[in-house]
Order: sequence, then C-alpha cells, then structure tokens
Amino acid sequence: MDKMYLILLLSFAASYSISLSSADSVTTYEDFVRCFKNVTSITDDDLSAVILPRTSVSFTPTLRAYIRNARFNTSSTPKPSIIIVPRVDSHVQAAVICTKTLNLQLKIRSGGHDYDGLSYVSAVTFLVLDLSNFRNVTVDLNDGGGSAWVQSGATLGELYYRIWEKSEVHAFPAGVCPTVGVGGHVSGGGYGHMIRKFGLTIDHVVDATIVDANGQIHDRKSMGEDLFWAIGGGGGGSFGVILAFKVKLVEVPKTVTVFRVDKSVDENALDMVHKWQFVAPRTDPGLFMRVLLSSPTQNKTRTVNAKLRALYLGRADDVVLKMTEEFPELGLKKEDCKEMTWIQSLLWWMNHVDVDKVKPEILLEREPDSAKFLKRKSDYVEKEMTKPELNRLFQKLATLDRTGLVLNPYGGNLNATAVNETAFPHRHKLYKIQHSATWPDAGPEAERLYIGNLRTTYKIMTPFVSKNPRSSYLNYRDIDIGVNDHGADSYRKGEIYGRKYFGENFDRLVRVKTAVDPENFFRNEQSIPTVPPNRR
Ligand code: FDA
Repeated sequence: MDKMYLILLLSFAASYSISLSSADSVTTYEDFVRCFKNVTSITDDDLSAVILPRTSVSFTPTLRAYIRNARFNTSSTPKPSIIIVPRVDSHVQAAVICTKTLNLQLKIRSGGHDYDGLSYVSAVTFLVLDLSNFRNVTVDLNDGGGSAWVQSGATLGELYYRIWEKSEVHAFPAGVCPTVGVGGHVSGGGYGHMIRKFGLTIDHVVDATIVDANGQIHDRKSMGEDLFWAIGGGGGGSFGVILAFKVKLVEVPKTVTVFRVDKSVDENALDMVHKWQFVAPRTDPGLFMRVLLSSPTQNKTRTVNAKLRALYLGRADDVVLKMTEEFPELGLKKEDCKEMTWIQSLLWWMNHVDVDKVKPEILLEREPDSAKFLKRKSDYVEKEMTKPELNRLFQKLATLDRTGLVLNPYGGNLNATAVNETAFPHRHKLYKIQHSATWPDAGPEAERLYIGNLRTTYKIMTPFVSKNPRSSYLNYRDIDIGVNDHGADSYRKGEIYGRKYFGENFDRLVRVKTAVDPENFFRNEQSIPTVPPNRR
C-alpha cells in the first residue's frame, strides 16, 4: 500500500485509538444484528445474506468483488467489521440507524471505482454498505424525451444496455467505462465522450431518492433543492445514501462515427497535440477527441506516443471535412473512420476493434474481482501550452515508466450551465488532465516507483494548470490533495481539499451538510465538513 495512505490510516487509528480485536468484532456484529432486527422485519434466513460478519464465507468474496484498485486488496488493507448487502430500502435505513447507534463509520459502496478506495477502506472501525443488489433500471421513453430511474448499484453499462433495449437513438451522457457504479459516478459529477454536446451527467438528473442521517427516505421534493443540488457533483458520501437517480435521456443520431489517430514523436505527435489544444475544446460540440500521452519502449528506446480517440455524433464525411479545415495536422482520412450505432461506439471505446463481432450484452458484465494496481490525479488547463513547454513535458515523460496523461477536451455545451448551478464547478476550462499510472506487480517497491513517477508529472505540470487553488475532479479521487480525520479542525482540513474539488461551491456544500447532517455521521477522509459549532 502507498506509504502516504498508510501514514494517513495510522494517524487515523491513533486519533481514534481504535484497534479492533476479533472479540470487539464479534460484539459489534451482535450489537448490530440486534439493532437491525429491531428496526426491520428481516427473517433469520435473510439475515445471513444481508449482514456479513468477517467469519461469513461470503465476507471476502463480497468485499473483493468491487475492489477496483488492487493496492487496496492486500492482507494489510484494513477490512470492515461487517459488510451489509441490503436487498430492500428498509435494510439501507436500518444500516444507517444501527451504524449511527453504534457510533461507527459507514462506508457506502456502489461500483467500488473510487480511485483511492474510500468506499471500502478506513483506519477506524467501519462497516461497508454494499449496494450491488440495487441494480434496477427502468426506462420510460414516453416520459418527455425519455427518462430512466436507475438504482445506485447499477453500472453505467447496465444503464446503457437497458436504454438500447428500447431505442437505438436514445442514450445517456456518462462515463466511458461500463463497470463504473451509478451511485458514486453521478453524485460526483460524471462525464463521458458526449460531455461537449450534452454537458455533465448531473446536468441530466431530475430526481433522486436518498436515505438521510436519521434513516428517513426522501425524494427531490422532500429533500429540498439544497440537498438535491449538493448530491449533484458534491459527492453522495457526505450527505446520505443515494438509493436511485431519475435521469433524462438524450437523443443521438442512428449513425455515429469513431476514429483513432496514433502518432509517435517522429510523426509529429508534438505538433498534433499542440494544435489539439486549440481545436478540441472549440470545435463542433458533437465531436469529442481525447488524447492519451504515454511513453512506451520501442526498439529498446523510450519514446512518447500521442493516441487520439474520438466520437463524432454524425457521419464520417462530415467529420473528415471538418478536420481537414480545422485540424490538418491530424491528417484524418475517411478510412480512419468507422460508422456505427451509438451502443456499438461504447464497445469500440472498450477497445473492441471489430464491434460487429461483439454483442452489447458485454455491457452487462461486471467483471468482479478484476482490479489492477493504480493511482490517478487530475488537473485543469485554462491556457494552451506552447510547443517548447509541451516539448519539455514530452522529454520528461520519456524518462518515466508506466505514467501517462489523458487529455479530455471541455468547451461546447458544458459551458451553457452556470458554475454554481450544480456543485461541480470546473466548467470553463480548456481541458482536463487525468494523470494516470497503472502497473501489474504487487508490492511497496513497485508502488513507490510508479506513484513517484505520477507525482513527478503532476509536479512538472504545475505552471500550466489551474492555480489558487489547483483544481481537482472529485471523481478522480486523490487523497494527496488533503485528508480529514474530522477532529477539532475538521472544517480547516476539509477546506483544503474542498476548495480544490468544489471551488466557490464549497461554502454552499458546507451549509447544506451542516443543515442535513449536523453530527457528521456521513463522513469519509474527503467528505464535506460541517460548520464548526462555535461559528453556527
Ligand atoms: P464507489 O462505490 O467506490 O463510490 C465512490 C464514492 O461515492 C465513495 O465516496 C462512496 O462512498 C460514494 N458513494 C457511492 N455510492 C454512493 C451512494 N449510493 N450514496 C452515497 N454515496 C455513494 N469518471 C468519469 O467521470 N468518467 C469516466 O469515464 C470514468 N471512467 C472511469 C474508469 C475506471 C476504470 C475507474 C476506476 C473510474 C472511472 N471514473 C470515471 C471515476 C468514477 O466516476 C468514480 O470513481 C466514481 O465515484 C465511481 O463510482 P462507484 O459507485 O463505482 O464508486
């Protein structure tokens, strides 16, 4: 496990003086079950499937199924005392009430894709609420332009598939990876390859159901507009357990176009990336062109490659014409393009080259227990880098193993929504960077090396990215930017990462948090703090 994470966890443990022996664990389980039975009508048969103590044979497989970062799947990773796998809403309500009664911490997990594992790791005694059974998706094409109620534990792939079952020209603008969970993704903002046309995922959320800190269920009307605003980009884990979201669907053409262009430094990758910065955020909103910068070894020499992947919501002829005029450095030809349906384009983004040979059912695969070792960080660029600056980045990148940068263009209709209309604040940017390191080998040495490389690219990008504060995307969870033990100076600590994730929206998030959860029951290492008692 990363040294920094370990230090964080140990300092937590010290501040809470908690070390859970197996005897404590048994008592916690017995107390929890007693409470759970008191507030629900659960049968003894169901109980053993819903509340899993560490001794249950289902405990480890259930925990591991949705661990998506192998760094947190080791024997030294702290484990929950109990996993609760609710089947109905009342189980979620009971989980909140009983965890609160026992004065423990509840980690909420939908798809488990939190990059730093905050949905299933903690140093204090904690329980995991695993929402993987909450996966219903109900699509209604007759509701306005089409809508869907989707439960938090559904994956994006399940949502896309259920829409496709009913219509080939309806879609939903959310993340590219189909195994990502709806609960964390949507409440954290959510973006995908239609962001420039349709904006963020949260721009299409029209209702939600949530269990609050008192165990009460609310919809949008009864939770009020402040809380509804907060869970649209402010992260769910600070405010309650989101059971489901209602989303509006969007319409897409029957035929869309995808293309890829790969260039090495010898093929003028530098010129292409430089020009990309001017074109990608300003071109037709129906065109999304992502660039991946990596440093592979070719002929025993490390070099830098730029791989461009694009989705155009229209025909190949149109996009080739557009790119010939606006972006000749790309050298896009009709034969680089593939026309297909929108659902097939999702399969193409999953790296299936021949999409006719793959069935959309693949979107339903959850790929349990398939984690890699990884670390991510994020940045926002507001002004294009010059060619010499990019060149210096390329040269440095060429010295770093297994580190890459993913450049995602903004602009288009993303800017149509005001910065404070949703809790997600980073709209008026040129592009977002995901700093990315993924590696295959376990152990502290590999972790030190590759996370070190990642932090090096993050450091060298400092002059070229947003400042005061340096902004970050909540869904690219990064505990390097600050953590909170929710002690006496919880607000001050929360402000450090909170301003980076939420900018000026942080203040309203704190006010909402204080109003709906004054005792700070829903907390994690980067949750929204409450207003300090002496300032209320
Ligand atoms: P997980 O269950 O780990 O939850 C993440 C956070 O949300 C935790 O703090 C958790 O407590 C909280 N939470 C989860 N469910 C909740 C609920 N029901 N109620 C309240 N709080 C809840 N992002 C993006 O915008 N576009 C993309 O294309 C991608 N692609 C991508 C690919 C891969 C492979 C990974 C690992 C991640 C991404 N992401 C992404 C990031 C992703 O959007 C982010 O990690 C989400 O928070 C994941 O949501 P899960 O429910 O899967 O995570």
